[in-house]
Amino acid sequence: MKVLVIGNGGREHALALALSRDPGVSEVHAAPGNPGIGAVATLHAVDPLDPAAVAALAADIGVDLVVVGPEAPLVAGVADAVRAAGVPVFGPSLEAARLEGSKAFAKEVMAAASVPTARAITAETPEQAAAALAEFGPPYVVKDDALAAGKGVIVTRDLAEALAHAETCGRVVIEEFLDGPEVSLFAICDGHGAYALQPAQDFKRILDGGLGPNTGGMGSYSPLTWARPDLAEVVIEQVVSPTLAEMARRGAPFVGCLYVGLALTSAGPKVIEFNVRFGDPDIQPVLALLDSPLGALLHAAATGKLATEPTFRDGASVTVVLASAGYPESSSKGDVITGVEDAAAVENVDVIHAGTAMAAGRLVTAGGRVLAVRALGADVADARARAYAAADLISFDGMQRRSDIAAEPLGVVEGASLTG
Ligand code: AMP
Ligand code: GLY
Repeated sequence: MKVLVIGNGGREHALALALSRDPGVSEVHAAPGNPGIGAVATLHAVDPLDPAAVAALAADIGVDLVVVGPEAPLVAGVADAVRAAGVPVFGPSLEAARLEGSKAFAKEVMAAASVPTARAITAETPEQAAAALAEFGPPYVVKDDALAAGKGVIVTRDLAEALAHAETCGRVVIEEFLDGPEVSLFAICDGHGAYALQPAQDFKRILDGGLGPNTGGMGSYSPLTWARPDLAEVVIEQVVSPTLAEMARRGAPFVGCLYVGLALTSAGPKVIEFNVRFGDPDIQPVLALLDSPLGALLHAAATGKLATEPTFRDGASVTVVLASAGYPESSSKGDVITGVEDAAAVENVDVIHAGTAMAAGRLVTAGGRVLAVRALGADVADARARAYAAADLISFDGMQRRSDIAAEPLGVVEGASLTG
């Protein structure tokens, strides 16, 4: 099987790496890719946001499967164009991608499908926002309705801050606060059925102890030994299956990864958000532990024929993100990175590239999240020790990383401790 991966981040590197290690996959291609992906795939300088160009590339190479990594190409209609060209694609249509593209749409689908989630009110004016905030009380949760790369959400006890955020965004979704550990569950969907991957946790705040602003994720681990063993089963039954049925009923069957962000509340798992792609870095440890072939799984989903449940090996995996100076408000480009080869040589460690580039023959930073160091181990503590030992070998100016990834489970939603 020949596979083309669309995107250039850590998620796409982790996917390309897993595909390159799958004996059922003969060739891995990527567009546009990054220096890390270039080590395991053939790179193509094609604009990932150009549906016609991606479809033409897939046809030219003669791939059997296109895997679309990030949400931006999905929201640009890349999966639709590839599907129209007759090539199987793992990734939802534009219409189905609205589950991530519009938080209000996601809430509407969840309500229609009776999926457990936070109660929410959509507000379009400051007056409506004030009324909704008063109804729910603190802590306040205010979400920009449009895609905002994780930066559109604030959780705060400060009413003035909540009101100001609502005013800046325009159309917002205001929600009941969910208190409980936060979990990432990835469902591989073929339009009608789904299999869950092993759950993971993502550490979202920039600083140790869950302090500082939200990021795209500073580290992750799997499995969650403390969680109920039937968690994945319960989420498929209560969340994923009804959502797939509702999307199919609307004529927009969902094919791809439905990323269910959950809060495990005392009243059971509730959905915090849907994304329509794998989460990064949360997917990284999950892929490291996947035992069954990734290529066949994604191809089966893309062709509506899921029939074989994915399996996972024993042990654990931990990923520690190395971010550039200024992240998450900004990022620093062009800082020379050293030590990547030494880190990658540590047993059971992969160095995943998220925001890197080559400049004058040297590896440099090229984004907010630069690298992720991922390790496999006998258990979480062992994997964690290996990940940090390898991460210690890497340096660049202004490097930021958390020192407490997977030190203990994320007990409560990190947001709860932030702006109290
Ligand atoms: P989202 O973009 O919807 O995932 O929100 C970003 C982060 O804000 C989540 O990962 C949570 O940590 C937090 N958050 C979002 N919604 C809620 C909620 N209803 N209750 C508590 N925390 C939330
Ligand atoms: N790690 C969070 C996300 O990918 O949205």
